[in-house]
Amino acid sequence: MSRLSPAQFRSRFPILARRIYVNSCSQGALSTDVEASMRAYVDSWHDGGSPWELWVEQVERLRTAFAASIGADRDEIAVLPSASAGINAVASAMDFGGARSHVALGEFEFPTMAQVWLAQQRRGATIRWARASGDRLPVDAYEAVVDARTLIIPATHVCFRNGHRTDIAALTALGHARGAYVFLDDYQRTGAGPIDVHALGIDFMVTGCLKYLLAAAGVAFLYVRRDLIERLEPAITGWFGRINPFAFRIDALDWSPTASRFESGTPPVPNAYAALGALELLDRIGYDAVGRQVAQLVERYRSAVHASGFVARTPAEADARGPLVVIQSHDAPALVSRLASRGIVASCRGNGLRVSFHAYNNEADVDAVVGALEAESALLERAAARSF
Ligand SMILES: Cc1ncc(COP(=O)(O)O)c(C=O)c1O
Repeated sequence: MSRLSPAQFRSRFPILARRIYVNSCSQGALSTDVEASMRAYVDSWHDGGSPWELWVEQVERLRTAFAASIGADRDEIAVLPSASAGINAVASAMDFGGARSHVALGEFEFPTMAQVWLAQQRRGATIRWARASGDRLPVDAYEAVVDARTLIIPATHVCFRNGHRTDIAALTALGHARGAYVFLDDYQRTGAGPIDVHALGIDFMVTGCLKYLLAAAGVAFLYVRRDLIERLEPAITGWFGRINPFAFRIDALDWSPTASRFESGTPPVPNAYAALGALELLDRIGYDAVGRQVAQLVERYRSAVHASGFVARTPAEADARGPLVVIQSHDAPALVSRLASRGIVASCRGNGLRVSFHAYNNEADVDAVVGALEAESALLERAAARSF
């Protein structure tokens, strides 16, 4: 396998010849590699008609490749159609009837993470909120709500709304010291830099392929720490959660000894092809190289935004942010359209303009976005204007 430089990596994304693409926080750009993988799926369907053995094998290759990319073992990975499916499977395996029935939720979660746990209130869960101060959610905010009654702490790594990055190592140390599970939602960071789930010590993690993992919607992953797998029996289940789905038994509920017990129905085969193409491409540049490139671009953009006097909602400290930087607009949807008319693809949540970087971006992209923001500055909040 030959290594790719950032410039070679960039050349595999045709959209970058036409647009400035800074919206990986929403959808990663399409590479020629992923396009070829999707075509391989179509060809396999044309050629074989119903080559299920090949398709199931492809899903297994994906499981192996993803596990290697996050420092996990393949048996610790469930391949799922969405992150929500993984969160639901874990929540449905939890027992809220014992001494621990509290779920500690931070205010920066993606809605689905909060909603699945809110739905567990009917099953006896109590939600304890770790409150943010403005755009900050320090681990101290969890200190106040995590105690001997806490069962689990679901926590997003990077917030989709403001780009704040939580110190997951510190949160895991806190949770484990107090006997609670820690469940990481890494969707807004996986693929944008290295991660090692064993070194972090987290209990569960969900993520999906359509953002920084550079593939299509419809495939996601759940990591479950090995020693927890056989202790948990999800109530949301199905034939792919069995020891051998192809035994077709209707009179017994055996549990796969691996994390595939958290799966339920037929795997997302077309999306698995796309995801495998993307993981193989990311492997060729390497997650350390991706992380370095993203960090440099984020720093360049964050400093330029500051120098222009715009109001950044994402923390300035490198260890408190990820690949996404959010700045405050008066009318972010209008700003997104203005940027689109200048060939820049970005997105917003509320009045926060989201600009996010991957290794396929370069310094010229950053400078073009900053130039466009200067030109559209009437739509942006200025730091001075915010102080009263
Ligand atoms: C942090 C985070 N979690 C989860 C999701 C989505 O999860 P799902 O695959 O269930 O749609 C997103 C998507 O935007 C996200 O940003």
